[in-house]
Amino acid sequence: MNTTPNSARPSLSTVEVSIPGHPYPVVIGPGARRRFVSYLAPFHLNRTVWITDRNVAGLWGDEIRSLSGTAAPDLVVLPAGEEQKRLATVEDLCRRFVQLGVERHDTLVACGGGVIGDVVGFAAACYLRGVNFVQLPTTLLAMVDSSVGGKTGVDLPEGKNLVGAFHQPRFVLADPDFLATLPERELRSGLAEVIKTALISGPKLFTELRSFVKRHPDLQGPDLAGLIESCVDFKAGVVEKDEREGGLRRILNFGHTVGHALECLGQYRTLKHGEAVLWGLSAALDLSVRRAGLDPRLETDIQAFLAPFLTAIPPLEFDSGEVLDLLARDKKVRRKVVQFVLLRGVGLPVVTPLADPQILIAALDHLRDRMRAGAAPEGEDREIRD
Ligand SMILES: NC(=O)c1ccc[n+]([C@@H]2O[C@H](COP(=O)([O-])OP(=O)(O)OC[C@H]3O[C@@H](n4cnc5c(N)ncnc54)[C@H](O)[C@@H]3O)[C@@H](O)[C@H]2O)c1
Ligand SMILES: [Zn+2]
Repeated sequence: MNTTPNSARPSLSTVEVSIPGHPYPVVIGPGARRRFVSYLAPFHLNRTVWITDRNVAGLWGDEIRSLSGTAAPDLVVLPAGEEQKRLATVEDLCRRFVQLGVERHDTLVACGGGVIGDVVGFAAACYLRGVNFVQLPTTLLAMVDSSVGGKTGVDLPEGKNLVGAFHQPRFVLADPDFLATLPERELRSGLAEVIKTALISGPKLFTELRSFVKRHPDLQGPDLAGLIESCVDFKAGVVEKDEREGGLRRILNFGHTVGHALECLGQYRTLKHGEAVLWGLSAALDLSVRRAGLDPRLETDIQAFLAPFLTAIPPLEFDSGEVLDLLARDKKVRRKVVQFVLLRGVGLPVVTPLADPQILIAALDHLRDRMRAGAAPEGEDREIRD
């Protein structure tokens, strides 16, 4: 982690992710995408093959052609959506690479949201036992979180991200210009990862976030680049100490244990990843009061900040026992005990084993009641206010 203003373009900053053996820069700011060719050059990489989804191709296809430096780039366009994050897509992709003659020293360019980044990263880890890839994230979620840190993979019907690999990109260009076309629901979903990062990193980022939301209820604004940089900087600091999630990196899963279970229950369609994480954060805060000594007044304050975002999420009916079964399949389970990331305070995450199903059931029932009381009618978004 080492943030520097980018001298070539003052509005850009660079966070160096100093993972031993695989260091790489994350360039952040409007116009960062245009640095593609110059960042590629030092690697003496061969050919590039671009992979994106239909939505991004429709909106940004001309830009992709311009960035690739050719009118007819090797471009693979996948259908959009979390349903594509499965093994069958990886097989299809790898077979396309064979047809395109992709070789070991070629580079895959993942241009899209977290789904494209995770699938392409995993294909890059597996194809020919590993090829280079780079990330051009186009959603807020991918810019602040999924494009950095090298976690790649796909879902199984049995659970989220159950198959994957650690494979670091060669560089990441996080350009907020892409967000101009992102629907507000997707922006709010991405904001969930910003909120997660703020809560585990400390009051400074949490205050920055709250003031951003107050100033920009539509979540668009030039200072978004600063928030992205703060999140990337924090994540870089964590993953460079613990690339493979032996310890510290587990804190990045705050809100994700229940979140992944809800996402799976909705068959990856009802809730977007960030929406499931938002409810997961809310449940983790509740559990933090019950089990980690979080001050209930602080919890109330944070829940009040979350509330307008939560009420905008489509409802999901669930049975707490069903969620409990899904939690048992979580990757963080050790000897059948779910390991939760809880908060003792803002910036004070603790990994806590929760063996007592009664506490979990109580928190899940509470969550379900709040979802029923607060969720917006399906398809209808409520106004977001601070
Ligand atoms: N690898 C990691 O460390 C990590 C971290 C967090 C989340 N994730 C994963 O990320 C995924 C979620 O990512 P996501 O929220 O970006 O989802 P996504 O990739 O499905 O993108 C969301 C939607 O936005 C569209 N889109 C993308 N860019 C756009 C743009 N600029 N303008 C208009 N539309 C655009 C996409 O087509 C899609 O419909 C989940 O699978 C989650 O598990 C991974
Ligand atoms: Zn996430």
